[in-house]
Amino acid sequence: MSSTPLQQLIMQRIQRDGPITFAEFMQMALYMPGYGYYVTGPARMGWQGDYYTSTNISPLFANCVGRQLYQMWEQLKRPTPFVVLEQGAGRGHLAEGVRRWAKRDKGEDDFTTALDYRAEDIHMGQDAVAENEVSDTTAQPHVILSNELVDAFPVHILEKRNARLYEVYVHVQQDRLSEVLDEPSSPEVASYLDSYHIPWLSFNDGWRAEVNLAALRWMKQTARLLLGSSPRRKRRGFILIIDYGDRARALYTRHRSRGTLASYFQHQLTERPLVRPGEQDITAHVNFSALIQEGRTQGLRLYTFTTQRLWLESMGIDEELEWLRTHDFAVIETQRSSNQGQVALLQWYDVRQRAAALTDPAGMGNFKVLILKH
Ligand SMILES: C[S@@+](CC[C@H](N)C(=O)[O-])C[C@H]1O[C@@H](n2cnc3c(N)ncnc32)[C@H](O)[C@@H]1O
Repeated sequence: MSSTPLQQLIMQRIQRDGPITFAEFMQMALYMPGYGYYVTGPARMGWQGDYYTSTNISPLFANCVGRQLYQMWEQLKRPTPFVVLEQGAGRGHLAEGVRRWAKRDKGEDDFTTALDYRAEDIHMGQDAVAENEVSDTTAQPHVILSNELVDAFPVHILEKRNARLYEVYVHVQQDRLSEVLDEPSSPEVASYLDSYHIPWLSFNDGWRAEVNLAALRWMKQTARLLLGSSPRRKRRGFILIIDYGDRARALYTRHRSRGTLASYFQHQLTERPLVRPGEQDITAHVNFSALIQEGRTQGLRLYTFTTQRLWLESMGIDEELEWLRTHDFAVIETQRSSNQGQVALLQWYDVRQRAAALTDPAGMGNFKVLILKH
């Protein structure tokens, strides 16, 4: 396999300074200025990229996010402007979809006027959200939301061996990047699983788990951004996080013996995260217990934790589907046997199939939706 320029840089660094943690490797592979996967080239989602998200699958997803934001706006007593900040927004398709839904469903009403939806992404030259202190200079958001962001943060990897936990480091051996095990790089990494009461000692040797410390830092910063710097922290608002993962006890089980780390290259799952650094996506499932606990520490309370399927259903995905059928596919009823009617029928099947993909319990329907409130 030919080596990438970033691979050369990583090897030079290791030869100079010694092995690096997997988290440091992942940080470089995804975020190194000028080279990292997320900071170079075109945004990688969509059918030509390496991944697609719920946003790309169907506009019904953005419609349901719109419905959720409308409910939040009402709960917050209809603020104007209603500032929504989306982090890790990619090309801004979710933002476009929500604005389109607001215009369609709410017309020129107060919500459409109040909605001030801001989309940020590291790809647009902005800073990585998990690594930099947030500033309070921009308009303070009422809602901070992200879809498939936290799974991209760099993770440490632990491996159980002989009744102990070791950490995975990246080293150079025979001119290639390879894994080695050593002591955990910090007390935070070493005690992470115990803080969620994971019975790892009873698991088999070779069992692995990812530790996303960047998610904890991000949660802290995001909560602070929501609450602002006012000493009494009276500001009300929501954080909405959608991603794959689960609560700690469901994520770190004996059956998931090799953890959840996955690399994607052109929609193909690859089992080799160390190859092609900078050219493939690397992700890990999100420990939602960590986000909930850190949110609580920051003064937020749990409002919703559920699956994407149940959340979409409660937001009215079926009504949205019905709206589409009666408004965009009426020709199926009126002129079913015409060419136009037949084409519309095929398109309608596609729309329905995409809605089913969003709620599929074995796929995106099992993603989790977390809402924290202040
Ligand atoms: C899987 S995409 C999701 C895009 C979009 N939210 C959607 O629903 O289609 C993840 C996005 O997060 C961005 N991203 C990853 N890490 C980030 C970070 N640390 N800070 C800001 N953006 C980040 C990537 O550039 C990418 O566009």
